[in-house]
Amino acid sequence: MSEKREKVVLAYSGGLDTSVAIKWIPEKYNMDVITVTIDLGAVKDLEGIRQKALEIGAKKAIVVDAKETFVKYFIYPALRAGALYEGVYPLATALGRPLIAKLLADVAHEEKADAVAHGCTGKGNDQVRLDVSLNVLNPNLQIIAPVREWRMTRDEEIKYAEEHNIPVEAKIKSPYSTDENLWGRSIECGVLEDPWAEPPEEVYKWTKNAKETPDEPEYLEIHFDRGIPVAINNEEMDGITIINTLNARGGKHGVGRIDHLENRLVGIKSREIYEAPAANILHTAHRALEGMIMTKDALRFKETVSTQYADLIYNGLWFSAFHQDLVAYVTSSQRIMNGTIRVRLSKGTCTVVGRKSPLSLYSEKLATYQKEDTFDHSASVGFIKIYGLQVKIQAQKQMDVLVGRETLQLDSIMPPKLKPVKASEK
Ligand code: ARG
Repeated sequence: MSEKREKVVLAYSGGLDTSVAIKWIPEKYNMDVITVTIDLGAVKDLEGIRQKALEIGAKKAIVVDAKETFVKYFIYPALRAGALYEGVYPLATALGRPLIAKLLADVAHEEKADAVAHGCTGKGNDQVRLDVSLNVLNPNLQIIAPVREWRMTRDEEIKYAEEHNIPVEAKIKSPYSTDENLWGRSIECGVLEDPWAEPPEEVYKWTKNAKETPDEPEYLEIHFDRGIPVAINNEEMDGITIINTLNARGGKHGVGRIDHLENRLVGIKSREIYEAPAANILHTAHRALEGMIMTKDALRFKETVSTQYADLIYNGLWFSAFHQDLVAYVTSSQRIMNGTIRVRLSKGTCTVVGRKSPLSLYSEKLATYQKEDTFDHSASVGFIKIYGLQVKIQAQKQMDVLVGRETLQLDSIMPPKLKPVKASEK
């Protein structure tokens, strides 16, 4: 009795899995549970969730408002980097994980806890992101992942909950698994597991079907300062307000629905639906601004950086030196990213219809076909001669071989089966 019980800090969402965990962890590990509910901008009754944790049996229940930190340290850096996983997914869920890991590690330190716990399953990306981040931040913390360990089916879990007086809300009967924060909403499971099935309308909560959106398009001007959105239609706003505003405006026009068959870190392909109006609008606008301000070579290189950056976020490597190195490039490249982009929201689309910047490389005098033209047409003749020289000579020397008579035979990567030099049986 006199021996002090160990403590575990559990990331608590208020849902079924982590509610069951509040009871299951003390039974299995004989530890006291402290819950942390982290506000990343999903609209929720945080105080209600805190009370529920205490009612189920948590020794202490903490709520942390991490919205501002989320925007400043995670969302905007990802936006400036142009981080879209496989070109489409703005990484809302993935960006939240390193922050949740950091908060768990911080609370564990304050509470002198020995372990942390989360509700991830054993086949998704999120367990990897949390565990890898936690191992970086504090390798001494034990990590408990009840859902990965207990192997209960959904029905068994509900039964366990009922037997232990854990309130089971009606909405858990929903066939979908969802996750949401300021930067977007992720939906999977149920009928969505059939990649041929069109997502039913009921999966969407933030965005209207284009059939039901206003006929009148809406125009927005987004002002950027060093790659960070600072105002909409000349009205300055903090990051949280900008993102909430764009989620509402975009959602109203059906902007930001994404249907992604994605490559998970754990080797499987999975189908996920996303709603991310603000992320869609801001990435579209930011890319358009870069298109006006960066040189062609810099833009090509930025694409590579964006892909690497998105991969490392998706793959759970936020807390890495490589990331810090990429930040150095992104920060440098964004010093000149000032200007305004005008977008039109209409019937599920967000289209760039205007751009301006004091640092623009676009020159109307060079681009125009009118008499104001200052481009030196005669210089093109010499340019073409030298520019095309390599392929001109190649055509003379090699074209017959390359495109003509020789058939292209590919070497196989599979060597033939080898016969044993000698084999004998006893
Ligand atoms: N596929 C997304 C990712 O790995 C979202 C994962 C969470 N999705 C969910 N519906 N619970 O980042």
